[in-house]
Amino acid sequence: MKLKKLALSVLGLMTVATAYGDLRNSDTDRLYGRQTIFLDQQWTEADRDRFYFTPQGSYLIPYSWFLALEVAGRRQPFKDKRNIRRYGYLVDDDSYSPANPDGLPIGFAQEPVENGEAWLGYTCAACHTNEIHFQDQIVRIDGAPTLADFTAFNNGLIAALEFTLASEKRFDRFARAVLGKEAEENEQSALWERIADHTAWLKGFAKRGKPPHAFGAGRVDAFGIIMNEVFGHDLGQLENVRIPNAPVSYPFLWGTPRHDFVQWTGSASNPFGRNVGEVLGAFGRVNLDVMSSDFGSTTARARELFELERLVAKLGTPHWPEEVLGPINEASASRGQTLYTQSRNGEESCADCHALSDSAGHYPSTPPEENLFGVSFIKTHMIPLNDIGTDPLTAKKLCFAERQARCRNTASPCAVYQCQWRSTGSGHAVDFSRRRGAG
Ligand code: HEC
Ligand code: HEC
Repeated sequence: MKLKKLALSVLGLMTVATAYGDLRNSDTDRLYGRQTIFLDQQWTEADRDRFYFTPQGSYLIPYSWFLALEVAGRRQPFKDKRNIRRYGYLVDDDSYSPANPDGLPIGFAQEPVENGEAWLGYTCAACHTNEIHFQDQIVRIDGAPTLADFTAFNNGLIAALEFTLASEKRFDRFARAVLGKEAEENEQSALWERIADHTAWLKGFAKRGKPPHAFGAGRVDAFGIIMNEVFGHDLGQLENVRIPNAPVSYPFLWGTPRHDFVQWTGSASNPFGRNVGEVLGAFGRVNLDVMSSDFGSTTARARELFELERLVAKLGTPHWPEEVLGPINEASASRGQTLYTQSRNGEESCADCHALSDSAGHYPSTPPEENLFGVSFIKTHMIPLNDIGTDPLTAKKLCFAERQARCRNTASPCAVYQCQWRSTGSGHAVDFSRRRGAG
């Protein structure tokens, strides 16, 4: 196909491509090809497959595009393991299980075909799975925080799409893979237009989610991005978009369904609402146009989110794998236990905040009478920001501060999401960080 416009600066794109080329890690490349060791975390192989590849309603890119796309500036499939690993996401080496015939990265799932097309999106495992590399071994830890770079991955995807638009040869290869060899010229132009539209959409997402300093590996301002997508983009009120400048680390998942509150700010007690919010921040969509007959409809998949949550509930805490890492050094372990449990200089010990279970395996729990179904949860304690002294931004911004929903046909706000901050003697708002059971 003759490209109609070449409005893209290929020079600019080259810069992007080389910048991300540096993320490669040859040390890890060397390790792959070896058998991954899985720990006993109470999951069957089928559970693991379901957790890795069950779609949650996230629409990142049409599935066939992802398979056909090439890395910006290089003739390498974007889905190539080495490319995916540059961004810190995981891919299995072994011949793929029936759950993953196309060798997708872990936590990237195929959304079922709708209107003749399947899509690829994020699912929980992308952000909540990791590995330990020790000597020649790879140990997979399910539910562990990722060290992936969310922003770099999206930028890499955008750069690859832009290269496809800008180079005729590359586009032709892409179009043959997506449409087949026999496709007509007009089908090809329509595909080109769609890529341009979708790239513009992804760039809008990237712009709304652009932090003042790169989040880097293992951190993301999840709440900032979710609020921008829902209250800015989906509500169609871009004045609600705020710079996402409050990155947090990805948490581990084992044990979390037993907690009364989750998230670093202790802000969520309803896993279902929490998961839907997460989907909407990770390329899910919702219709928030009150005048539309489709108002409230969302891509978030209720049944699948339920299943994913149940899998998290079943997931066990990883234990030190002696057969891989060698026996526990008892002397060090006992010194560590002292450090962890004893307070020094009148300060609380680690265990005072990051609780250990008692000898019967119990954590301090909420009384069953407090819950409609008589369920007890592990009780979390909120610690004032001034005491914990970590970066307070996510807690301060959490309360949807200043984000407003304007009524149709009026300029005045009809709903204002407000925080319930208590004020301290010093006049500062108090917000809280959560401490939790060590699991
Ligand atoms: C794109 C990355 C991403 C995806 C996908 C994702 N999460 Fe998370 N998750 C995060 C981040 C980041 C946080 C911490 C946010 C915060 O507290 O500010 C988090 C927090 C959580 C927490 C709170 C844990 C705690 O101890 O406070 C749970 C539970 C959780 N996620 C479960 C899930 C489940 C279940 C799914 C899939 C349905 C999922 N997540 C998908 C990034 C992700
Ligand atoms: C006064 C309560 C308190 C004490 C004492 C405490 N912590 Fe924490 N810790 C927290 C809170 C709250 C967070 C979450 C911080 C945040 O949200 O910024 C945290 C975060 C952490 C994290 C980061 C987890 C992640 O995934 O990013 C680690 C690791 C940690 N603590 C280890 C320790 C160790 C080891 C000790 C003892 C030497 C200790 N903590 C003592 C309350 C405490």
